[in-house]
Amino acid sequence: MAVRLELRKDAGKLDPRSGPWIRRKQVGRVLGPPDPSAVAALVDRRGKVLGHGLYSPESAIVLRMIQWGERAPEPRWLEARVEAALLARRRLGLGVDGQTTGYREVNSEGDGLPGLVVDRFGAWRVLQVTTAPMAARIDSILAALGGAAQGLDGCIVLGPRSAAEREGFPAFERVLDASGGPGDAPEALRWLEHGQVVTAPAPPAQKTGAYHDQRDNRRAFASLVAGLPAPHLGTEPGAILDLGCHVGGFAIAAARASTRRVVAVDQSAAVLDYVVRNAAANGLEPGRVSSVRADMFGSLDAPELAGPFSAIVFDPPKIASSRRDLGRATGAMARTSATLLRRLEPGGVLALCSCSHHLGVAELDRAMLEAGERSGRPCSRVAVWGPGPDHPVWPCHVEGEYLRVAVYQRRE
Ligand SMILES: C[S@@+](CC[C@H](N)C(=O)[O-])C[C@H]1O[C@@H](n2cnc3c(N)ncnc32)[C@H](O)[C@@H]1O
Repeated sequence: MAVRLELRKDAGKLDPRSGPWIRRKQVGRVLGPPDPSAVAALVDRRGKVLGHGLYSPESAIVLRMIQWGERAPEPRWLEARVEAALLARRRLGLGVDGQTTGYREVNSEGDGLPGLVVDRFGAWRVLQVTTAPMAARIDSILAALGGAAQGLDGCIVLGPRSAAEREGFPAFERVLDASGGPGDAPEALRWLEHGQVVTAPAPPAQKTGAYHDQRDNRRAFASLVAGLPAPHLGTEPGAILDLGCHVGGFAIAAARASTRRVVAVDQSAAVLDYVVRNAAANGLEPGRVSSVRADMFGSLDAPELAGPFSAIVFDPPKIASSRRDLGRATGAMARTSATLLRRLEPGGVLALCSCSHHLGVAELDRAMLEAGERSGRPCSRVAVWGPGPDHPVWPCHVEGEYLRVAVYQRRE
């Protein structure tokens, strides 16, 4: 039996511009079984079909629209969208020139596939499924992605516990070989990013394994650093600090583009081992990139962190899950940024990153204003960066907008 979700009278105006998420509180009645493998119709109180979506019977977001209008999606909609996403990456030149073999192949709503993320890491593919309807379709997704023909060694498929609890499906983690049979996880993921060799612990250590969304920002930061002169004639320029470094992407790109010393900081000992390993794999002499284990929101009192620094990137994890968290999150960003500004040379740059949807450029500006006042070192914003083109955003889906990097320069 087809599933129909009937809107409440007070559900508000829903159309292709109002975004793809339909919340439980907007739905009056569900007609049909609680089946997440169904493509459900969204109907108004007169029975008019407004569109079709993926049904999450147990979630607060009960329907994610995949098509508006009366017409139902064609039977191969899933396969067609997966194929289109893969083709779009090739058209962007990703995975084509041999210089970048790590990139996002599917970006959830941005590719019309809500609840599905697929990241490529050289010969491995990592899938992350975060909704019940995508978990119910995993075999079709794997078949549509293909495997052996694309030179893959295997695939890791993750249904993380937090999403599983929210959506009501059993959490899972599977490793498949290239032919789709059970396989063994790799010791590490390995790929190239703009010619830079990167290795990272295999998931589920962090997300899908690494942060491809910052790929082009790591390159932009490196070229900014390469052009920064010493603050005074005849002096040596300061070092570079990568705070929240994961496996050292910003640190190593900056070290390769300059002759400066780079310090990489993270709280995870496991990823810091990879920073050293990645520096060596890229031909950097021992000691050019050093690693320090520290809490980015703590006092940062290790001697290596005293500065002066000519460039700093501060890339925390998601620290604001909702609007309610904003005051606490901007306060924490401001406190750490004030500490960092005291160690930044005049004319030096600080790249402040947010991967929290609610923490946008306006909130980053506010944190920097407060940091400037606390430290007595005012700054001006000189650039704003976002995710790379392999992280498309569906314009009506405001929640899909999350990564912002605001770059500030210390005024003299
Ligand atoms: C968004 S990721 C950074 C990505 C990284 N900059 C890159 O380009 O790949 C955030 C990082 O912060 C680290 N982290 C989380 N909480 C931290 C804390 N309190 N202190 C230091 N590092 C922390 C995580 O281990 C993770 O590597």
